[in-house]
Amino acid sequence: MAELETAIQAAKEAGKLIREKVYVSKRVDRKSSAHDLVTEVDKASEELVREMILSRHPDHAILGEEGVAAGVEASKQALEEHRAYEALWVVDPIDGTTNFVHGFPFFCVSIAFARNQEVVAGVIYDPMQDDLFTAEKGKGAFLNGERITVSREKTLPESLLATGFPTDARGVRQVNTEAILKLAPQVRNVRAAGSAALHLACVAAGRLTGFWELELNAWDLAAGALLIQEAGGHVTDTLGRPYDLGVRHILATNGHVHDDVLQALKEAGSTGF
Ligand code: IPD
Ligand code: CA
Ligand code: CA
Ligand code: CA
Repeated sequence: MAELETAIQAAKEAGKLIREKVYVSKRVDRKSSAHDLVTEVDKASEELVREMILSRHPDHAILGEEGVAAGVEASKQALEEHRAYEALWVVDPIDGTTNFVHGFPFFCVSIAFARNQEVVAGVIYDPMQDDLFTAEKGKGAFLNGERITVSREKTLPESLLATGFPTDARGVRQVNTEAILKLAPQVRNVRAAGSAALHLACVAAGRLTGFWELELNAWDLAAGALLIQEAGGHVTDTLGRPYDLGVRHILATNGHVHDDVLQALKEAGSTGF
């Protein structure tokens, strides 16, 4: 599929740019709060991806994080304005900006392509590990060209879960803390490494059993959701409804532990609804 090739090319080029800038000083601006940062590299990465997409697919629409005003309401509105396009790209030019700013090497580029609101191609590139995760609807998920599948854990005590704390919705951080307090004693362990998209790629590759987070955006989730579906996993919102581009409260697992995590989130009052 031409779009998958474009996404791969764009993610690798953007990743190269990001990798070159990670340990040098860069301009950091605040968006909605001190938790919500953007650098010149986020903007340059998005620009590079946009230009590459439009040079090859001039009539396609692009929803990119840095093209949208800060804050939850503006993000929701931007999705509503874009989702009806027949051919839509959904781009996170750096997922894990806080890590990038601090030099903590866990961030990625996430690029998804949706046709008629269905994600049909997804690429996540981790420039520090040179890990390229790719998926095309109905054709499986791959890491550096090798087929990947979700992990096999069947129960919570065997599970390694990950979560995260949204940058621009502070009340939700408190709500999610309740979920961690509930789940941590029941599972093998919980991680929160600061890149939703890269956590999702890890679920697809069987490196994590599952991931949940509240108040994410389409650009955090679209590529990772397809990767997990194509790797045999399960992706829903935190009430168990199927993934679509509008989902903000996500649960993505290997499938086996999905219901148990849903139940724990419900009991903790951490579904975000
Ligand atoms: C953020 C990261 C982080 C998650 C936040 C996201 P950004 O994306 O995915 O892990 O906790 O909710 O906003 O701003 O670094 O692209
Ligand atoms: Ca951001
Ligand atoms: Ca993001
Ligand atoms: Ca970002």
